[in-house]
Amino acid sequence: MQAALYIESEPIKIADGAYLLQGFVSRFESGFDQRLLDAIEAVRLQAPFRHMVTPGGYTMSVAMANCGRAGWVTDRKGYRYSEIDPTTGLPWPAMPEVFLQIAQSAALAAGYQDFVPDACLINRYEPGARMALHQDKDEQDATAPIVSVSLGLTATFMFGGLQRTDKAKRFKLEHGDVVVWGGTSRFNFHGIAPLKTSMHPLLGEQRINLTFRKALADSP
Ligand code: SIN
Ligand code: FE2
Repeated sequence: MQAALYIESEPIKIADGAYLLQGFVSRFESGFDQRLLDAIEAVRLQAPFRHMVTPGGYTMSVAMANCGRAGWVTDRKGYRYSEIDPTTGLPWPAMPEVFLQIAQSAALAAGYQDFVPDACLINRYEPGARMALHQDKDEQDATAPIVSVSLGLTATFMFGGLQRTDKAKRFKLEHGDVVVWGGTSRFNFHGIAPLKTSMHPLLGEQRINLTFRKALADSP
């Protein structure tokens, strides 16, 4: 019995340094997913979801908020991390303890020790929303991995290589799945295919993704 459980929880290697941890959230106590959702709700009340504009002038289909010391933002001037939420003029809400807990244990399960994220981008997808292939390269610390937690509707995650033209593999990300990428795949292109309409018992017609990053070079 124990052996079977152990095999089920083995990380699936999707590229060098990149792992899919299926059902990782359910390895915590029951209701941990609801605790994450409650924390998201608390963050959103201080830093509302907003559709940001790319430097090229496109409004993103994904609505975003941040918590932690730094938050990822985009506007006509470019992509960057900011310690102030441009919507409220205030610092981003603190990173909830349950966020740190899941991010650090997922990083560890994928072989990355001492991951201390200082930024969490919260992405909210409604049906049709997508994220084009891109690299996460606005962070100052390239040694830290990216930890991505999926909640709500199932999405198709595309994970390619270091060149935009490298063929991307596709993976289904379900409620409670976590992906961790770092090392030689830290700068691999990745994205999310347009979200299909469906209904999730906890989140309804949405998917929420948390991506944890070490954005600043001078934070612990
Ligand atoms: C991202 O690349 O920031 C988001 C990925 C995802 O939504 O799973
Ligand atoms: Fe990304």
